[in-house]
Amino acid sequence: MPNKIKKIHALEILDSRGNPTVQATVELSNGTSATSAVPSGASTGRFEAYELRDGDPHRYEGKGVLKAVENVNTKINDALEGVSVFEQTQIDQMMIDLDGTKNKSSLGANAILAVSLAVMSTAAKANNVQLYEYIRSLYNPKLKKYKLPTPVVNVINGGAHGGTNINIQEFWLVAHKAKTFSDKLRQSSEIFHKLGELLHSVGMDTDLGNEGGYSPNVKSHRQVFDLILQAIENAGYKPGKDINLGIDAGASEFYNEKTKKYELPLENKNLTGDELIDFYFDLMEIYPLRIVEDPLDQEDWENWQDFTSDQFIKNNDVVVVGDDLFVTNVKRLKKGIEMGVANSILIKLNQIGTLSETLEAIRYAQENDYQVIVSHRSGETADTTIADLAVAVNAEYIKTGSTSRGERTAKYNRLLNIEEKLNN
Ligand code: PGA
Ligand code: ZN
Repeated sequence: MPNKIKKIHALEILDSRGNPTVQATVELSNGTSATSAVPSGASTGRFEAYELRDGDPHRYEGKGVLKAVENVNTKINDALEGVSVFEQTQIDQMMIDLDGTKNKSSLGANAILAVSLAVMSTAAKANNVQLYEYIRSLYNPKLKKYKLPTPVVNVINGGAHGGTNINIQEFWLVAHKAKTFSDKLRQSSEIFHKLGELLHSVGMDTDLGNEGGYSPNVKSHRQVFDLILQAIENAGYKPGKDINLGIDAGASEFYNEKTKKYELPLENKNLTGDELIDFYFDLMEIYPLRIVEDPLDQEDWENWQDFTSDQFIKNNDVVVVGDDLFVTNVKRLKKGIEMGVANSILIKLNQIGTLSETLEAIRYAQENDYQVIVSHRSGETADTTIADLAVAVNAEYIKTGSTSRGERTAKYNRLLNIEEKLNN
């Protein structure tokens, strides 16, 4: 049987922050092989699958992943040897069972996901199809057309992603008006450069944060929005008409569980959930802010509910996205749908740890009319799987950083290539 797994091999490599991560290679009996690597977050949600790190202070300050690598090379390799590479669901389930814990803490979600993705990539290669075509066949072979996602381009990096005083984690350009992916990307890149020129001209820092956006110190959050608006105009576009804005507040990072307050040192304020919601609505009144991710803490379900059900959200089609809230987990998404919390889900493969469970979360979201944003992590590799995943499931959006830094543009460039293929 030529498509049987012969060997699985993992290696400790580095992510874009210089921290170790797991790469896995699957080899079939006929010699076909493919390699995948997993990313790593900084502002990780509390309910994410477990990222196994060695904890050995003499290597990479405890962040080594040799145990995860060893788990791939021994336990997982032994279990999957001889299994057909096309049995993605079965393979993922075998790893979940082999791990035996709720959050994949025994083998490590980083070990399991690296194998899950390498199995997927090897199967696509063995079938001689594009990766997005192969994922489509697993997701829903009845879906006919392919749709390219709109990029949400993170041009200002705050919170845990940059050395800045900005508390909101991400500020995005959303080129919603342009028709094609390549035009949306081009517009975003033009504005990104204008923003850099603008920051430079007023003496602000133009160094880049973890996701390739600028990361200056500012006077207020409003100042960030004003600078972005100016950059949009300087590039010849109209805010709101051509370009909307989005944020990932990453609110779990600035929520104080003891005081139950949201702490925004940049605004000199400690806010209740209600007050924070007012803060967002004030911003949405002034700016074309139409996508809001993680506005509230990952366990603050009631305030999430209030925020989502506000008439302004409905009247303006504001996309309310759950990231740390849902962690790509069907159980948490289900609770959210039942409560009327959020109307969109952020999808990160390594939050849940297998391709099959990720597809299950996307399927459940789409069946319930929740929009899908496929996302990178702040620590990335050159792996471009998420570009193919977004196209395979017809995701509305992809979030993969600014239009700079190789690990971010690798995904955008893959989408440019897919767009060209689909047009021919
Ligand atoms: P992370 O950030 O990868 O550091 O978790 C991304 C996000 O919060 O969306
Ligand atoms: Zn987020």
